[in-house]
Amino acid sequence: MKAFIIVDQNTGTLRPTDIPAPPAPADNQVQLELIGTSINPIDPLVAKGYGAPLLERKGPGARITGRDAVARVIEVGKGVTDLRPGQRVLVAASPRTGGTYAAIFNLPRKCVAPIDDSLSDATAAGLGYAGLTALQALAAAGLSADNARGKLLCINGASGGVGSIALVLARRWGATLTAVASERNQDWVRRLGADQTVDYRDPAAMAAIDADIILNFAAPGDNHRQNPLLDRLLRRDTPGRAYVNTTNPVLSSVTDKGVVGGLATSGGIYLKKRLAARRAGIRYRWVLFQENAEQLAYLAKFFADPDTPTIVSDIQPLKALPDVFNDPKGPPSPGKGVFMVEGV
Ligand SMILES: NC(=O)c1ccc[n+]([C@@H]2O[C@H](COP(=O)([O-])OP(=O)(O)OC[C@H]3O[C@@H](n4cnc5c(N)ncnc54)[C@H](OP(=O)(O)O)[C@@H]3O)[C@@H](O)[C@H]2O)c1
Repeated sequence: MKAFIIVDQNTGTLRPTDIPAPPAPADNQVQLELIGTSINPIDPLVAKGYGAPLLERKGPGARITGRDAVARVIEVGKGVTDLRPGQRVLVAASPRTGGTYAAIFNLPRKCVAPIDDSLSDATAAGLGYAGLTALQALAAAGLSADNARGKLLCINGASGGVGSIALVLARRWGATLTAVASERNQDWVRRLGADQTVDYRDPAAMAAIDADIILNFAAPGDNHRQNPLLDRLLRRDTPGRAYVNTTNPVLSSVTDKGVVGGLATSGGIYLKKRLAARRAGIRYRWVLFQENAEQLAYLAKFFADPDTPTIVSDIQPLKALPDVFNDPKGPPSPGKGVFMVEGV
């Protein structure tokens, strides 16, 4: 069968390759046929060995990457009683669990949620991994559909995959939103529901941001500090302040120091930052993606609503995926670009 495989770990190059089809699914697994997928920033990094001591898998399918999919169930393991062959599903898998860039792949039940006809293939192809991260970041900030109304929320990196999905969720939940994005993506974040937009290259506008909760999804780069905008919260005295970051040093520490040394180092940094923030009255959290079928089902239902703005900015055939994956500039923003199997 066709799959996209990392053929060179030094360069992280992805290529289409013929590999044997996976075995029948194990008891807790589901066997899936790919309909569409997307690229997440972690994939090209993991392809080059980033986080390898923690994330490297062994056995069949170990070189298949890819975090997202919309797929069709082919077969279920003996222990899976609530899914059946032919069902369309939303998929999100961590690098540690398995990959989706193959015509047929097996994943644990926890990576899969059934979807109904009203969720489009294109939206589902890019929703899972970034969507769960967005939902888990909102939860880490203490936000939910029940309590978000009127809260002042700022999303840094609002035009990316995680940011776009978090923006749509929080807007529907009633939060008041400031979206930070590059100038070219200001219209995108406005269309998703931002009340205010700020260009991160405008220092005066950045310094004037008025928010009690900050979600940082900005891709790390040399043009911004590790906890951008945390100083905005430190200068305030309002209750319920929270700062949540998805760009943290866990995987880079593990890459440099191995699992034990890396987790100890990053755990130490995290505790120090969390305690310092707590002393200032701020809830400070790092988010690490976790598989969660129940949250996937929530996202599937939420984005099936025809009034929900689309988070997909680009749809290409699956054969285009390696070129975009191998492009050092990464997938173009905003939102999610998706890659669809033709004729499924
Ligand atoms: N911890 C976890 O488990 C986990 C899970 C998923 C993602 N992540 C991380 O979370 C981040 C977001 O993921 P994603 O999938 O949304 O990535 P993405 O689609 O590549 O989006 C990255 C965003 O960063 C923005 N950005 C770049 N430089 C910026 C700056 N100086 N200030 C503010 N924003 C800036 C970009 O804005 P423009 O395009 O408008 O310039 C873009 O919206 C990535 O670093 C990713 O690795 C972590």
